[in-house]
Amino acid sequence: MSPSLTVRRIAADQGAAFRELRTASLREAPYAFGETLEDALSADAARFDATAAQHAVSSDATTFILYTEGHPAGLIEAHFEDTPQRRAFVGELWVAPAVRHLRGGELLVNTAGEWLASEGAHEVFAWVTDSNRNAMRFYERLGFGPTGDHTRSAGASGELESLLVRHVQQASGDASHASSQ
Ligand SMILES: CC(C)(COP(=O)(O)OP(=O)(O)OC[C@H]1O[C@@H](n2cnc3c(N)ncnc32)[C@H](O)[C@@H]1OP(=O)(O)O)[C@@H](O)C(=O)NCCC(=O)NCCS
Repeated sequence: MSPSLTVRRIAADQGAAFRELRTASLREAPYAFGETLEDALSADAARFDATAAQHAVSSDATTFILYTEGHPAGLIEAHFEDTPQRRAFVGELWVAPAVRHLRGGELLVNTAGEWLASEGAHEVFAWVTDSNRNAMRFYERLGFGPTGDHTRSAGASGELESLLVRHVQQASGDASHASSQ
């Protein structure tokens, strides 16, 4: 039987769980993120506590955690850019290998998208490394398309990344379709 997957916004006291998920994601999928495992491991635990406390209440940035049978098994970050355009982004998306292909990633992206929409977003953006074909296919399947913007990753690899976008109207349509399957 498939495990049941749920998503909840991070709570202020979940700094340790957040650190565990972030280091697990950087260890398992280092190709997917600008930050390195060494960066995360060398960071003070207090940094994760502070982010959890802020993300539990902020209207500018948050983190959602995926649970399988009550155990943390994935995460996504959502934030508004600190510019006049206030573009909305998702990032740091990771689902533990044991629970992939069960729509946990989709649940995370849709939940983060709904939160961004509730805070005023009309479009949701995501940077994806071009060589990460799984993530590209994943986001395309969820209705994200190319903006035409590209950049070099800030990480040591200097890989090319592409900016994808999904309109919020489309996001809610997809979410209701997905939940009715
Ligand atoms: C990308 C990721 C979050 C998807 O999570 P997930 O829970 O497996 O996603 P879903 O079950 O919602 O998958 C939806 C669809 O995405 C595509 N997909 C996901 N993983 C795939 C893979 N390894 N190979 C091919 N397609 C894949 C498929 O279309 C999949 O449908 P399917 O399961 O019927 O094949 C997960 O593979 C992951 O954490 N990867 C490593 C980290 C990463 O790349 N993060 C993204 C950074 S931009």
